[in-house]
Amino acid sequence: MTAHRTNKCTKCIHILLIVAITGSGTVHGIEPISAITGTAIVTGIFGASNYFYCKFAECCDERSVPGNIGKLKESLSRTLFGQHIVQQYVVSALMAHLQSTNPSRKPLVMSFHGTPGTGKSFVADQIAEALYLEGTKSKYVHKYLGRADFAHPSRLNEYKERINNEVRKSIKECPRSLFIFDEVDKMPVGVFDTLTSFIDYAANKGDADYTKAIFIFLSNTAGIEISDHLVRLMKSGKRREDTKLSDFEKMLELSAYNMEGGLKKTNMIEAHAIDHYVPFMALEKAHIVLCVEAEFERHGYRPTLKDIQQVVNEAATYDPKHSMFVTSGCKTIEKKVAVVVYDNKT
Ligand SMILES: Nc1ncnc2c1ncn2[C@@H]1O[C@H](COP(=O)(O)OP(=O)(O)OP(=O)(O)O)[C@@H](O)[C@H]1O
Ligand SMILES: [Mg+2]
Repeated sequence: MTAHRTNKCTKCIHILLIVAITGSGTVHGIEPISAITGTAIVTGIFGASNYFYCKFAECCDERSVPGNIGKLKESLSRTLFGQHIVQQYVVSALMAHLQSTNPSRKPLVMSFHGTPGTGKSFVADQIAEALYLEGTKSKYVHKYLGRADFAHPSRLNEYKERINNEVRKSIKECPRSLFIFDEVDKMPVGVFDTLTSFIDYAANKGDADYTKAIFIFLSNTAGIEISDHLVRLMKSGKRREDTKLSDFEKMLELSAYNMEGGLKKTNMIEAHAIDHYVPFMALEKAHIVLCVEAEFERHGYRPTLKDIQQVVNEAATYDPKHSMFVTSGCKTIEKKVAVVVYDNKT
């Protein structure tokens, strides 16, 4: 991968050096040989400065964008509970996309679906942490929030233009950019329509190479439908852990296309530009217990059985339809655990 840099100061220094070494050629009539030698020296200096700069600062190169799938696999298997499809599929999809022996012809586009607190943002952040040295803070990781960034349907055209411009500019700067669009169901219908030309095949044509980028859409869209379908599958004799991506994908594509939000009737779905629709299943009590234990561990606190029960009882309310899924997943655990830890310290 070539090192892309946009450090304006270094570019200025480069230009100044060329001017300084080639001198005021028009006045004194500098010899062409000296000019060529001067330029070669400057290019060498620039290359070296670039090399050292990228040793310490973030550049679009192997060091800053290591694409460490092994790290992702390890962290997901250690920290993510109750999402066997995500564990299996997301890692493989990323691996296949990043493999240099199989050059991609389009960006990788995934859509994560699920009820609140099932781990969608948690996984998207872990992807960023594994793929980029600076993780979610990387300048090549671009995160958008539906409610904060694209809340008003009346400003649809402005949002479309913003997405269009920012995606184009970011990919020009670094083809291995990651775009995370969170709360997609809170975005206005049609907001992604200009994005389709970037994420579909032929994305490597034009002014930049879009084929190496990764786009992830996160939404609650079809979360309830995932639960209903899971219950149906379980009633037909399948264990939760034996369900597959193919059990959910068609249903998710249809729901995303028909339900309110940024994906509704979008030409991204019509053009089949979304590669994977990934279900995040609603969590059950056993998963919540694992989240509680992990959170206590994060605090370096050894909980009693009573501590764990207290948090689970406070945090878990069950869905009225099936009475088996915790409505907020693991979302409220962090704060509940913090209270118990605090109370026991004081
Ligand atoms: N499946 C899970 N396994 C382990 N921890 C989880 C899981 N799901 C959620 N958590 C914990 O709960 C926190 C909140 O989850 P997260 O923000 O990923 O939910 P979400 O699916 O994005 O919800 P929302 O749809 O409301 O945005 C995470 O930071 C993580 O600590
Ligand atoms: Mg989220």
